[in-house]
Amino acid sequence: MPPPTDFADRVLRWQRVHGRQHLPWQGTREPYRVWLSEIMLQQTQVATVLDYYPRFLARFPQVRALAAAPLDDVLALWSGLGYYSRARHLHRCAQEVVARHGGEFPRDAAALATLPGIGRSTAGAIAAFCFGERSPILDANVRRVLTRSLGFGADLAQAASERALWTVAEGLLPRRDLARAMPRYTQGLMDLGATVCLARNPQCARCPLAEICVARAGGDPHAYPVRSRRLVRRAEDWWLLLRVDGAGRCWLAPRPQRGIWAGLYCPPVFASRADLDAELPAAAGPGEAWPAFTHVLTHRNLRLHPVLVRGDGAGGGPGGAWFDAQGWRALGLPAPVRKLLEALPGAGDFLF
Ligand code: ADE
Repeated sequence: MPPPTDFADRVLRWQRVHGRQHLPWQGTREPYRVWLSEIMLQQTQVATVLDYYPRFLARFPQVRALAAAPLDDVLALWSGLGYYSRARHLHRCAQEVVARHGGEFPRDAAALATLPGIGRSTAGAIAAFCFGERSPILDANVRRVLTRSLGFGADLAQAASERALWTVAEGLLPRRDLARAMPRYTQGLMDLGATVCLARNPQCARCPLAEICVARAGGDPHAYPVRSRRLVRRAEDWWLLLRVDGAGRCWLAPRPQRGIWAGLYCPPVFASRADLDAELPAAAGPGEAWPAFTHVLTHRNLRLHPVLVRGDGAGGGPGGAWFDAQGWRALGLPAPVRKLLEALPGAGDFLF
């Protein structure tokens, strides 16, 4: 069945009345600001980004400021947003924009997609928002809106199906008044995915596509999108050595440049309690096991077992150092590590 011809008009009309209008990154067509918001929003809720975005812009108002900053400063400001490879790519992207493009973001989706951290969908969003380009987006939310409304049932685990959906998405784009229509349409699809066409409980009664929606007519919106490969999260146990010296400082070392929490500061990690104990200097006191908790990553359920050990001397872990609360608060830290450090005895003494 050919896609409906009034698809874009339905989205545009709905967005004007019911879509989100006042998000801080909507009031601008400045590529730097739009790019920053899109990267932050890739795997993070709007509510969280609303908190980080202005702080980031205040510290790095232009791409040149971001490019010139040390990576550690960028990671520290990113701390808590998760998926830190985004922050590393963000920094590299800023440097490439300065070095290769004279400090100006390229003005079309194809060129944007050659930059670090900018995939096809993010490139499409930036080009649509900033330049009114007829470029589609296809993030997880939009994939759900399109596959449901069009009844697109091909398995998206197959690259050919994914390509076919991109082609369909392109065919649905507005054709007139692109400078105004493309930003609104793009935002409208995002808003529909985030507020109406929800994964678990789609709000079909409020949807501008309900009358033409194939999934709704078939009675089972949950059947879309079709994807045969399921994400499997492997469980992994980490024992974290929280070494605290007599001055209340904690030993932290940067994680290796590859793998989980790459480059972020962390207490030394061990695969078992026995391995941790074996590393303790003779002078260290007995370990105090804190309750274990699970931290969910994209491909792992990390079970974290903190062990507090008091004692001076070498801390353990290559490249590490002792940090007082003021010191570690300025570092790039994984969110669960930051929480643990805040819970250390004496951490509160250093506040302000
Ligand atoms: N998610 C990704 N991009 C977004 C945007 N521009 N507004 C709201 N949510 C988003």
